[in-house]
Amino acid sequence: MQAHLAYGEIMRPTVFVSRRIPEAGLERVLAECDAEVWPELMPPPYELLCEKVQRVDGLLSTLNDRIDAHLIAAAGPQLKVISQMAVGFDNIDVRAAQNRGIAIGNTPGVLTDATADLAFALLLAAARRLMEGVQYIREGQWQTWDPRALLGGDLVGATLGIIGLGRIGKAVAGRAAGFDMRLLAFSPRTPAEEANALKIQLTTLETLLRESDYVSLHVPLNAETRGMIGHEQLRLMKPSAILINTARGPIVKARDLYEAVRDGIIGGAALDVTDPEPISLDDPLLTLPNVLILPHIGSASQRTRNLMATMAADNLIAGVYARPLPNAVRLP
Ligand code: NAP
Ligand code: GLV
Repeated sequence: MQAHLAYGEIMRPTVFVSRRIPEAGLERVLAECDAEVWPELMPPPYELLCEKVQRVDGLLSTLNDRIDAHLIAAAGPQLKVISQMAVGFDNIDVRAAQNRGIAIGNTPGVLTDATADLAFALLLAAARRLMEGVQYIREGQWQTWDPRALLGGDLVGATLGIIGLGRIGKAVAGRAAGFDMRLLAFSPRTPAEEANALKIQLTTLETLLRESDYVSLHVPLNAETRGMIGHEQLRLMKPSAILINTARGPIVKARDLYEAVRDGIIGGAALDVTDPEPISLDDPLLTLPNVLILPHIGSASQRTRNLMATMAADNLIAGVYARPLPNAVRLP
């Protein structure tokens, strides 16, 4: 129903914000729009999102929200924008949205350093067996300085293989250069000059897997990358190699990874993302001492989350006022 407006008042756009995002972003949204903010810890049910998009002008989503073709088809003609507070948008059917003229926003760049820091923290933690060290103390095993206990891998002179040399992949390479690591990358569409300028050698996936001591994943999740690391790829890796995944869980076949670590095909894994999320407490990966798992906190620094929230708010506001988004996702 149309609201009655006083003379001179203009109708504010309506939006649904699917989680309580940091205040910095929320304040911007509330200043410009009539917003309903989902108050729960858990994301809104899919059916409720389908209802909301029938009425609102804009949706601010997170990576937990399934924005598929069915939801896009359910949207009313007034829905102008879906603004995702994340760089990854694998939960959104961008093609379906584009076909209906709905703009999609995301938050690239502002989370690059925080995510690269976390990937490097995982690399160091796995290489030097930090979690096992913590456990060693908690189990009362620390009786003396043991010349042969908890020996890990070095970084200096070791080879880091980066799969996906985009913003985060390059930022991880920058950190690794400071540790005097040799750098390989598999990123078929990256120009060689771009990689050479960063002292990174582009190579095939097979060579990268065979030669790397640490392999770090930085590709988006899509039809090309889903399951790109499974038995066949893990078997190419060194028995001492460590797999680091801060990209998306389904890029790695979880069962294959479990078996590869369990059987000593590779040396271990350090994951910020799993398949599914959250990981089930009875997932066998959680039984392996040399698999370190974090709850998807790559971008979880205060500054970064504020920047993501304001960027998502700016995309949302631009979209509902039919202006070009500061950061739009576009498929060719
Ligand atoms: P980006 O700049 O787009 O980098 C992705 C890179 O991967 C691009 O260079 C891309 O090349 C390359 N690539 C795509 N498909 C490939 C394939 N099949 N094989 C090899 N390389 C391929 O994205 P970003 O900002 O670095 O973010 C990367 C991903 O990290 C996001 O999509 C998201 O899923 C994840 N992420 C996770 C967290 C977290 O909290 N853990 C935080 C931020 C991001 P082309 O562009 O030429 O295709
Ligand atoms: C987090 O995973 C993101 O894609 O921003």
